[in-house]
Amino acid sequence: MSAFSYWFFTFRFLSLAVNKSIFYALAVPDNSFTLPSFAKINWYLRVLGKREDGFHELCTLFQTVSLRDDLTFSESKEITLTCSNSSVPVDETNLIVRAAKVLGEKYALKSGAAIHLEKRIPAPGGLGGGSSNAAVALMGLAKLWKLNLKLEILTEIGRAIGSDVPFFFYGGTALGAGRGTEITPVNDAREKFLLIITPSIDVSTRDAFARLNAPHLTKLDSKSILKICRNEAENFSSSQAQLKNDFEPSVFAVQPEIERVKEKLLRCGAIQANLSGSGASVFAIFDKEETRQATLKALENETNWRKFAVATVSRNEYRESLKLVDRFASD
Ligand code: C5P
Repeated sequence: MSAFSYWFFTFRFLSLAVNKSIFYALAVPDNSFTLPSFAKINWYLRVLGKREDGFHELCTLFQTVSLRDDLTFSESKEITLTCSNSSVPVDETNLIVRAAKVLGEKYALKSGAAIHLEKRIPAPGGLGGGSSNAAVALMGLAKLWKLNLKLEILTEIGRAIGSDVPFFFYGGTALGAGRGTEITPVNDAREKFLLIITPSIDVSTRDAFARLNAPHLTKLDSKSILKICRNEAENFSSSQAQLKNDFEPSVFAVQPEIERVKEKLLRCGAIQANLSGSGASVFAIFDKEETRQATLKALENETNWRKFAVATVSRNEYRESLKLVDRFASD
């Protein structure tokens, strides 16, 4: 082949390739994008009493961990949800659909969205899976629908969807006070060797609260308690603190299998093991990878328990993975 024909064919080939990719880019506009939706644990959870509005006053320390779902958003005429797990409802009982409807109605939008949920976080499980999905749905849809909203506005919308939702606009380690919706970020706790074990038991959060038979609180009580909670959260150290979850006695009484998870984790060498939220997940802290791996091996026969080796996700990691800093520039 002469030098001329070599360059001629090379040039033809390149220009065709370029034209073709431009053609595809124009013909198939793909504006879809995927965001992670992380799970949480509660380092500790104290139920202080029943409020006048029927909810319970909490003092809890939330923590995002590396177990995650993924949400993919694409343009569509209608709001639709699909899920990798067929046992997850995709109708309005799913907080993603509820979040999409609330946001669409609030801003009188005609746009829809096709959302796909890649589900890994057990639900229900005390790991905030549904709440995390709702918060990420609000952030994702604000981007898809080009709504120029501040994070505080989305947090406010999230508060009406569920008590755990506001935390997922912060991530990292954060105090949840009031109903659990008043969030104060604190220094990130860092643990690399965590295990989350979820036995196949559904605990209803509403029933778990009802079984506590908590005393009634006044607004004044709540104010003075908040001060103590803040102080405690600011000085928290995951390796040294005595972790406590007020749901444990009543949840263990009706579901002894969950207590068995906790005891087994401690017997295998966990430094601490604690119920997350109202369960059924129990998380455990290990001092090194070898002990965590040996524990996973020892639990191999527990085929009804789901097991997740995770680490904490700091607030910066969380915000970067969701691109919160760029997207909501004013925050
Ligand atoms: O807010 P969320 O939908 O997650 O709450 C589920 C149920 O848990 C509520 O209907 C209420 O019965 C109970 N709850 C409570 N106090 C809280 C949070 C939830 O009593 N702080």
